[in-house]
Amino acid sequence: MPAIAVIGAQWGDEGKGKIVDLLAERVSIVVRFSGGDNAGHTVVNPQGEFKLHIIPSGIFYPHTTCIIGNGTVVNPAILLDEIEQLSGRGVDTSRLIISDRAHLIMPYHTLLDGLEEDKRGSGALGTTRRGIGPAFTDKAARLGIRTGDLLDKKTFRERLRTVLEYKNAILTKVYDSQPLSPDEIYQQYCRYGEQLAPYVRETTTILDEALRRGEQVLLEGAQGAMLDPDFGTYPYITSSSPLAGGASVGAGLGPTHITHVLAVFKAYCSRVGGGPMPTELKDDTGESIRQKGHEYGTTTGRARRCGWFDGVAARLATRINGFTKAAITRLDVLDHLPKVKLCVAYSLDGKEIDYFPSSISDLARCQPLYEEFPGWQTCTNDIRKIEQLPAEARQYLKRLEELINCPISIVSVGQKRGQTIEVKPVIKRSSGTANLPDPEHPSH
Ligand code: IMP
Repeated sequence: MPAIAVIGAQWGDEGKGKIVDLLAERVSIVVRFSGGDNAGHTVVNPQGEFKLHIIPSGIFYPHTTCIIGNGTVVNPAILLDEIEQLSGRGVDTSRLIISDRAHLIMPYHTLLDGLEEDKRGSGALGTTRRGIGPAFTDKAARLGIRTGDLLDKKTFRERLRTVLEYKNAILTKVYDSQPLSPDEIYQQYCRYGEQLAPYVRETTTILDEALRRGEQVLLEGAQGAMLDPDFGTYPYITSSSPLAGGASVGAGLGPTHITHVLAVFKAYCSRVGGGPMPTELKDDTGESIRQKGHEYGTTTGRARRCGWFDGVAARLATRINGFTKAAITRLDVLDHLPKVKLCVAYSLDGKEIDYFPSSISDLARCQPLYEEFPGWQTCTNDIRKIEQLPAEARQYLKRLEELINCPISIVSVGQKRGQTIEVKPVIKRSSGTANLPDPEHPSH
């Protein structure tokens, strides 16, 4: 099994960090392939609780190389801070590699992200204001500056001068804002370049060699399928593809190497930022899910919108990703509810539909059609075998599995690494990989 992609199947925040942390022990390389520090991957393992934004969630294993792939955008200040935070807590970051092709988030990107959002007023997209959209815009517009460029100061200075002339014209003439100083940015980014130089490498050869040796590679997604620029709720989307197709391009390996695509779905839905969400609950049930699930953004602290599991959106995610297995996370968040619901279809202008409309005005008019299930009202945190789950929870998962049209391999029943039911092993442990002791859950 050479490469496995772990993909967010909803609107992000599905718990990919936990799943990658769990599986990374069994692979030799983990690659983050899209997005930037808009992601917030929470990992709770024997070393503590960590919130990662750009460093792959495999960083906690001494045998795992972690690559920040060419498909990401990197804010060097955030990355260096994350490296320092991890090192300060005893996590070895010496196996971190940054693709020299990854684009940089520059000060004008974060500035413009905020200015553009402010200008949209009530039509704001609700971006994370981390400069993600403007950085990917520049990548496509051929105005980007890449991590590798920092290693050649002369070229970097020249490139920055050209790009900044253009950016300053936009800042001053469109937004009536102050221009940025090329010298300050140059000095600051040269310092970042010196600090990051040991990590910056050409990465396609590293992956190719590992794959030729038969090693397993895990491709770590960020955000989720419903935020994809093509298939998400455009324009309420992110700016790089979080899909399995994006994993191949963003990591820098051919699609035929990806033999498994693991979907990560939450047992319910959440979304942060603007845009339609047909199953959103604006009532006490939604609030109780938010409180029980601590549904507040890891990156921005914003309250997440919560709702029932959306089987229509889920089926679209399966179609466009070709999921081969699924992990269902946060089942325990529903433990307290007397009844739970699954959205199986929509009603659009009085007509039942089973597809996810591409137009957001159609989607905004969709009414979810639900099937209702009895709740289990039992704490599932300590359950480790699928057959030990309450019958009501198994009934719910069985129908959910039918809806997503993909077998469930993992059910997560708590934040900690060990609070996991592995129905079928997604990746077999390969011999020769070191096992980190897990004092809390020795059998893990
Ligand atoms: P951007 O990616 O910061 O441009 O934000 C675009 C949209 O994607 C906004 O609705 C964000 O809230 C959402 N978004 C970006 N990253 C994440 C994430 O990691 N989890 C959930 N939503 C995200």
